[in-house]
Amino acid sequence: MSILLEAKGLSKNFGALRAVDGVSLSLGAGDTLGIIGPNGAGKSSLFNLIAGVMAADAGQVLWQGRDIINLSAAERCRAGVGRTYQIPKPFGGLTVYENLMVAAEFGGGGAADARALCRSILDQMELSHLANAPAGGLRLLERKRLEMARALATRPKVLLLDEIAGGLTDLECDSLIAAIRDIKAQGVAIIWIEHVVHALFAVVDRLAVINFGAKIAEGPPKATFDTPEVQSIYLGIEA
Ligand SMILES: Nc1ncnc2c1ncn2[C@@H]1O[C@H](COP(=O)(O)OP(=O)(O)OP(=O)(O)O)[C@@H](O)[C@H]1O
Ligand SMILES: [Mg+2]
Repeated sequence: MSILLEAKGLSKNFGALRAVDGVSLSLGAGDTLGIIGPNGAGKSSLFNLIAGVMAADAGQVLWQGRDIINLSAAERCRAGVGRTYQIPKPFGGLTVYENLMVAAEFGGGGAADARALCRSILDQMELSHLANAPAGGLRLLERKRLEMARALATRPKVLLLDEIAGGLTDLECDSLIAAIRDIKAQGVAIIWIEHVVHALFAVVDRLAVINFGAKIAEGPPKATFDTPEVQSIYLGIEA
């Protein structure tokens, strides 16, 4: 399988804090990777480095073999790196549909087929009935669906999902999982940071564990989660 995205030795310091510490990972076209780790482990910071929202202190990001470390967030988005934010960032005064159109524009699509694309994403994310509603008034599940829809409107080849399942009821979480499986089935590669581990198990092919900024484990989801080292982080049990 061809490698789509590769991070090599990514690091980021905030003063004395090593928030991201030499993280490497690689993702093929259509791959799905889950990322878990305690609060403050550096997961969102890792996404910021990959998406170009934050400059890395060291390391490389390769996109289809090309070094993109000097590209801006907008340029990386146009190349095919789409993302959601842990705290959803819609334009609250714009409608749901307008939010998608802005995202489609940011992703570099032409206006004519952007309209058709946005309509089909609204449909896929079960937001069509809210197309003309102001984004600021949405309920939590709808906000999460909109956050994914906005990322999809940029036409990503890889989608970075940051804690999209948090705060939902079990039923809502199941419907979100179905939506993400749908995106996976379209062939979009996914890296999904999530504390709701069972949601990851339902979707991802591989699991990586981040602790104190560093990747400490990676492999098949259940086997990786069940290792004593990972369990000790999650349950406070001595390895
Ligand atoms: N812009 C910033 N300036 C200073 N410190 C930061 C900044 N962003 C993050 N940090 C710190 O870096 C560390 C890693 O934060 P990050 O948000 O990446 O963690 P996380 O794994 O996503 O946590 P959570 O599970 O709570 O979302 C934390 O200690 C955080 O306080
Ligand atoms: Mg985070």
